[in-house]
This record gives sequence, structure tokens and C-alpha cells, in this order.
Amino acid sequence: MSYIETIDLVKVFKLGNVEVQALRGLSMQVEEGEMIAVIGPSGSGKTTLLNIIGGLTRATAGQTFIAGKEITNFSNAQLGMLRQRVVGHIFQTLNLIPTLTAYENVELPMLAIKMPASQRKKRVTELLTTVGLEFRMNHKPDELSGGEKQRVAIASALANDPPILICDEPTGDLDQETGAKIVQFLHRVNKEMGKTVIMVTHDPAIARQTDRIYRIMDGKIISVQKPSDSEEANAALKVQMYRDRLAETELEIADLENAYKEQRINAATFGERWHNLTETKQFLERELHRMGL
Ligand SMILES: Nc1ncnc2c1ncn2[C@@H]1O[C@H](COP(=O)(O)OP(=O)(O)OP(=O)(O)O)[C@@H](O)[C@H]1O
Ligand SMILES: [Mg+2]
Repeated sequence: MSYIETIDLVKVFKLGNVEVQALRGLSMQVEEGEMIAVIGPSGSGKTTLLNIIGGLTRATAGQTFIAGKEITNFSNAQLGMLRQRVVGHIFQTLNLIPTLTAYENVELPMLAIKMPASQRKKRVTELLTTVGLEFRMNHKPDELSGGEKQRVAIASALANDPPILICDEPTGDLDQETGAKIVQFLHRVNKEMGKTVIMVTHDPAIARQTDRIYRIMDGKIISVQKPSDSEEANAALKVQMYRDRLAETELEIADLENAYKEQRINAATFGERWHNLTETKQFLERELHRMGL
């Protein structure tokens, strides 16, 4: 049994009469201390997989083992403990509480396990300092940049010192430089703090910095690759990911433009995200062009 293992996971979502099969027999193994990347097109089941590993969602069928224990039939209370103490989760949507400061967001999981006040204060300060936000402790999420918000989310996921960290596209909305810093930090969490890390990413360069890359398609693992595998395999993987990402970025830009037209987001948010997405799109087009495609 591996440290983290899923066997034939199936997840069916029912929306009225419609059934969506998000996972269709997904098996994966992660060893203690590894850093793993999970890649795959939008809608392939990456977030669903992380939610099952993180004890947020129950699979429809299949088995899940976390830190050597089978959690498949855990009670709600046991799953609660798993979320509080074993698996730190950085959500795709970050899930920071907008009315709380950075300090309070990081403190929240500690309150849930009734950590004594003096210990909390020390730990929140330490964590926010580690992620370089010692001068932003009293800022609320809206008063922080994208990269800073991501760092608060990481600090909050590490609050109760879980042995496992799962991160859903930690660089998703960030420009390349800020994204690279976040990934660097996650490597430190893996190497220096000794945590087992599973990271969903769209970026082939980031995926290749990990120990192994699991590729998901239609709710199943279709390949497992080591970054040290052959040049051709790596090149093919890169092209596929760039193409997937380009198609998705174009959709995201269209969605964003609609949201702005319909006044669901303000000009500043629109401007920042449009700039980042366009930068990503141009980068991908340039790279594909450079590879002669
Ligand atoms: N709560 C839900 N109810 C119904 N369908 C869902 C739910 N969550 C996910 N799905 C569906 O399950 C499939 C997998 O979704 P999931 O969010 O896991 O994909 P993903 O790989 O994380 O995609 P992305 O890269 O866009 O984040 C999709 O078809 C999605 O629409
Ligand atoms: Mg997702």
C-alpha cells in the first residue's frame, strides 16, 4: 500500500436527471515525501480527485487510502479530522474568507482544533513570515494581490502542520514570475518541511519540476511520467499541454469579457485578469510557434 493510493475511483454527479461521470476508474499511488503533478484538460476530473483525497467529497465507488489508512468509509467526523490535521488543501478558488484579515484566515484552522492562544499567535506569525507576508497580516483578501492571496491560502493550509498538502492550480491566475515564486515555495514545503505534495497544474514547466506527472483524461489516468523520461516523450507532453492550455485560455478570456460586459466584475479585476490571461495566451502561441506548430 502506498502512502496515498486510490483504487478504481468512480465519481458520478447527478444534476436532476443528468449524470456526469467525473471519475471513471481512477487509480494512482503517491509515496511519502514525493511531489506529484496532476495534469489534464479542463473538466477531466482533477479537482474532483483532490476533493476526494482531501476528504471533502465521497467517491461513488472505489477505495482511497491516505497516510496509510483507508478513508473510503470514514464517518463525517473522521473526514473532518482528516481535513483539519492530515491534508492541507489549497483550493482552486482559494476559499479565503473576505471579511477576515490574512492573520485571521491563517488562524481559523487552528481555532477549529482548539490550539491554545499563545501557540496560535506564534504559529500564525511564523507561517505568514515564512511566506513573506509579515507586513500584510492585517490586510483582508481584497487588499492583497493575487500572489499574496495565494500565499495566505498556502499558510492557512499549513496551519495545523498536516503531513500532506494538495494544491489545485496554485499558479492558475498568476503572472509567470509570481507563479514561479509560489512553486518555489511549494518545493520548499516538500523538501524542507518534508510534506507530501500533490499539485494540479496546467504548466508543463512546473509539472516537470516534480517527481512524477500523472496525466488525467476523462476521469482516468492515461499516463504516468517521470520528468527524466525521454526527450520525445517530454516534448509530446509539452505540446499536448500547451494546446490544451491555449484552448482553455481562449475560453477563459471569452468568459471574462462576458463577465465584464454583464458588469459581474469591475474594471480593475477585469484589467488584471485580462492582462494575465493575454500574457499566457501569447506565451503559449509563441512557444507552439517556436516548436514549429
Ligand atoms: N458538484 C458538481 N456537480 C456536478 N458536476 C460536477 C460537479 N463538480 C464537477 N462536476 C463535473 O465533473 C467533471 C470534472 O470536473 P472537475 O472540476 O473535477 O474538473 P477539472 O479537471 O478540475 O477542470 P478544471 O481544469 O477546469 O478545473 C466536469 O464535467 C464537471 O462539470
Ligand atoms: Mg479544477
